Amino acid sequence: MLSYKRDTYCGQVTENLAGKEVHLSGWVQRARDLGGVVFVWLRDREGLVQLVFDEAVCSHEVFELGRALRSEYVVTCTGEVRMRAENAVNPDLPTGKVEVFVRECELLNKSETPPIYIDDKAEENETVRLKYRYLDLRKPSLQRNLRMRAKIASAVRAYMDGQGFAEVETPVLTKSTPEGARDFLVPSRLHPGSFYALPQSPQIYKQLLMLAGFDKYYQLARCFRDEDNRADRQPEFTQVDVEMSFIDEKDIQTVIEGAFQRVFHDVMGMDIQLPLERITWREAMENYGSDKPDRRFGMLLKNASDLCEGCGFPVFEDAVKEGKCVRGINAEGCADMTRKQIDSLVEFVKTYRAKGLAYVTYTADGGVKSSFNKFLTPEFAEKLRERFSAKPGDILFFVADKDAVAFQSLGALRIEIARRRGLIPEGVYDLFWVTEFPLFEYSEEEGRYVAMHHPFTSWMPEDEAYLENEKDKVRARAYDLVMNGIEMGSGSIRIHRSDMQAKMFKMIGLSDEEAQHRFGFLTDAFKYGTPPHGGFAFGLDRLTMILTGSDSLRDVVAFPKAQGANCLMMETPADVNPEQLEALKIKVDLGE
Ligand code: AMO
Ligand code: AMP
Repeated sequence: MLSYKRDTYCGQVTENLAGKEVHLSGWVQRARDLGGVVFVWLRDREGLVQLVFDEAVCSHEVFELGRALRSEYVVTCTGEVRMRAENAVNPDLPTGKVEVFVRECELLNKSETPPIYIDDKAEENETVRLKYRYLDLRKPSLQRNLRMRAKIASAVRAYMDGQGFAEVETPVLTKSTPEGARDFLVPSRLHPGSFYALPQSPQIYKQLLMLAGFDKYYQLARCFRDEDNRADRQPEFTQVDVEMSFIDEKDIQTVIEGAFQRVFHDVMGMDIQLPLERITWREAMENYGSDKPDRRFGMLLKNASDLCEGCGFPVFEDAVKEGKCVRGINAEGCADMTRKQIDSLVEFVKTYRAKGLAYVTYTADGGVKSSFNKFLTPEFAEKLRERFSAKPGDILFFVADKDAVAFQSLGALRIEIARRRGLIPEGVYDLFWVTEFPLFEYSEEEGRYVAMHHPFTSWMPEDEAYLENEKDKVRARAYDLVMNGIEMGSGSIRIHRSDMQAKMFKMIGLSDEEAQHRFGFLTDAFKYGTPPHGGFAFGLDRLTMILTGSDSLRDVVAFPKAQGANCLMMETPADVNPEQLEALKIKVDLGE
């Protein structure tokens, strides 16, 4: 009997092994029986190689086995590597110059016909792919993505260890932490009616570790957030979580940039220049309408409010009179958009609460057209042309509204137009810091100010005077790392005094009792000599998504959740048996 212990991976059988005997094990990608010979593609984690079953080389028995092979059968074989004839070379395969003439072969296991093709080119329904994820994972792209993920994690660990950080694990059964999403709850059997929360992040633990004197902590931490799934969000995900004591913003940013530099070097073979560029939150919003700008293309926002007083167009005039703004972008060379295309952009901005989208087109023949023709004076058209450096063939889009709405809608429009027109270059990695975030944001939903990052973030001392009455003006000691329009990570310098922490809880409308109930252990802990500290966390999944060129986190997580936060393979969430519920003293009432 042939051992199944290989000596070579299929994908590594290249011309330098010509004439040598190899022992391969793997899965049959496909088998073609050409009568006198059988060609089989054998696949393992490194790739494919062509096997040849030829009775001139192998026994009749082995040849017959070759003929019986089907997709996804598991096979082990030995054979001689031979160069292919010039006209038989397959330039699409890294092993395409050679083939292996099988001498011995053994079938280790059969497979039913798989419900999906194990082929990156096959366009499969994602529901089926996720249901049979273990087969989907056999595809080269997913093999590559997950191995790249492992490489990134190991580069991060090597770097952090080298910088004197200690990895400390923190509990998964814990108490609610305020990262802004809903918690996943776990009922307690020993304490019926009480619940653990799964951590949205290890935020509080890492701060307590600073208090405990660990000084430099990191962890590849699993986090859980019950929020709507999006391409860049999963209900469970992994953060590279970091915290340091006796440091300021610059120190922590230097460590984090270094980790990114190391990852780019080790995984991508690329050198990135440090220090990374820093822009303020205000600059990001003014220019890109986003706190996570995609700077790989232009089309920057401009403020036209100062041009609108008495401009003749009531929508713009009224907006500035009411203290709102008129902002716009120049979609260069896009004047050829059809009415239908423009209408779909008008609908698009409405989903961002914009009430309308006005546009002005500078036509190739030097004329001007607009969505408010009867109000557009030549003088105003000229002023806009100047402000936006518009050339013939350009189209300007405007939103008149509150800053927040204008930023959000135009920021999204800018990206939408770039996507539709193919303006976003590939293979470019634009990594930079966004600093000076506001401390608070107003939540329309809750009718109160909430912490924009989280309530443990400290404010800039120079903005202290605004805390009571001008909350919008207070800047936080918070910073984000952004890459290609995606938030990679966030962090801040924390509040480390219990009186300041109590003040912060008050500012965001937590009553003393509620603050005591939820975070009493923390404010109490702060009384025992808490060092100044700060930190950061970045998404390992998101970083892997960008570096592998994937569009979705589902392509970089081995067993991801589908859109509805469910796992189609394990069929979770699932019901449990009545005894389990009884032990937890839980009754399920789904109403009607
Ligand atoms: P924050 O909530 O900004 O900060 O999260 C940090 C980073 O975690 C990643 N991330 C996610 N990735 C995938 N799916 C999700 N649902 C998801 N949510 C967040 C993002 C994000 O930038 N404790 C603070 C950090 C700190 O202050 O040190 C925190 O969790 O890449
Ligand atoms: P109307 O006077 O409502 O027909 O609008 C004339 C043009 O102004 C249309 O192109 C509208 O989409 C646009 N418009 C209306 N309200 C706004 C707004 N708040 N911001 C930008 N454009 C607007």
